Amino acid sequence: MISTDSCIATTQHNSLLNTKIIGKKITCKARLLDKRDFQHLIKVVNWAYRGKEGHEQWASEENLIFGDRVTYDMLLKDIEKDKNLCTVIVVEEYIDQEENGEGCDQQDKILQPIGCVKIERDTIHDKPIIGMLSVDPSYQSKGIGAILMTLAEKEIKQVWNVDEAHLHVVNVRDGLLGWYRYLGYVENGERYPFNIPGTKILVDEELEFLILIKKL
Ligand SMILES: CC(C)(COP(=O)(O)OP(=O)(O)OC[C@H]1O[C@@H](n2cnc3c(N)ncnc32)[C@H](O)[C@@H]1OP(=O)(O)O)[C@@H](O)C(=O)NCCC(=O)NCCS
Repeated sequence: MISTDSCIATTQHNSLLNTKIIGKKITCKARLLDKRDFQHLIKVVNWAYRGKEGHEQWASEENLIFGDRVTYDMLLKDIEKDKNLCTVIVVEEYIDQEENGEGCDQQDKILQPIGCVKIERDTIHDKPIIGMLSVDPSYQSKGIGAILMTLAEKEIKQVWNVDEAHLHVVNVRDGLLGWYRYLGYVENGERYPFNIPGTKILVDEELEFLILIKKL
C-alpha cells in the first residue's frame, strides 16, 4: 500500500533524469514534463498509438483502436496532479555539439520530445502503474522504449519508494506482451474490460486489459 506520507519521505531524486543516456545510435536526455512540451508531445503519443503516415510500427494500436490516445486537457490534468500521484517523464534527443565537431562554444542542442512515459497511482491496486509509454515512430527500435521503462522503474523505486510496477496491456497485443515479458513483467491473472470513452474498437471482438507486474 502506498501512502502519500511514505512518498514524501523519499529522496525525491531519480538518478537518470537530466543525464546523458545512450540508446542504439542515439543519445537522449530525460526530464519531467513541462507545459511547453504539450503541443508536440500530443502528436508523438497519438502517432505512437494510432500510427504515423509512412511508418511501419512493430507495436501500435493503429488497426485496433480509433480515437485520440491523449488530448491537451488530459496532459493538463496529469501535470496538475500531485507528483506523488502522477509523474510524466519525457525524453528528448540530445546532440552534443563538441562530440559532433561543432566546437564547445556552441550550445548543446536538445530537440523536441521523442517519447514519454507516465507513472500513476493505480486505483485498483494502489500501486504505481506505468502508462502512456510512447516513442515517436520515426525513433522506434533504437532502445528508447526500453530506456523509458527503466526511467519509470527508477522513478517508482527511487522517488516513490515502492518496489513493484504495474502495467495494463490490451489482451490481443501479443508482440507488445512478449516485449514486456522480456523486460521482466508477468501477468497476475487479472483482467478488466477495455472501455475508454471517446475511442472505438476496430476489431470484431471484446478487448480486455491484462495486468502485468514486475518486482523492482
Ligand atoms: C512500445 C514502444 C514504446 C517501444 O518503443 P521502441 O523505442 O521501439 O522500443 P525499443 O527500441 O526499446 O525495443 C524494441 C525492440 O525490441 C524488440 N522486441 C520486441 N519484442 C521482443 C521480445 N519479446 N524479446 C526481445 N526483443 C523484443 C523489437 O523487435 C524491437 O527491436 P527491432 O525493431 O530491432 O526488431 C513503441 O512501440 C510505441 O510507442 N508503441 C505504441 C504505444 C504503445 O503501444 N505503448 C504501450 C501501451 S501498453
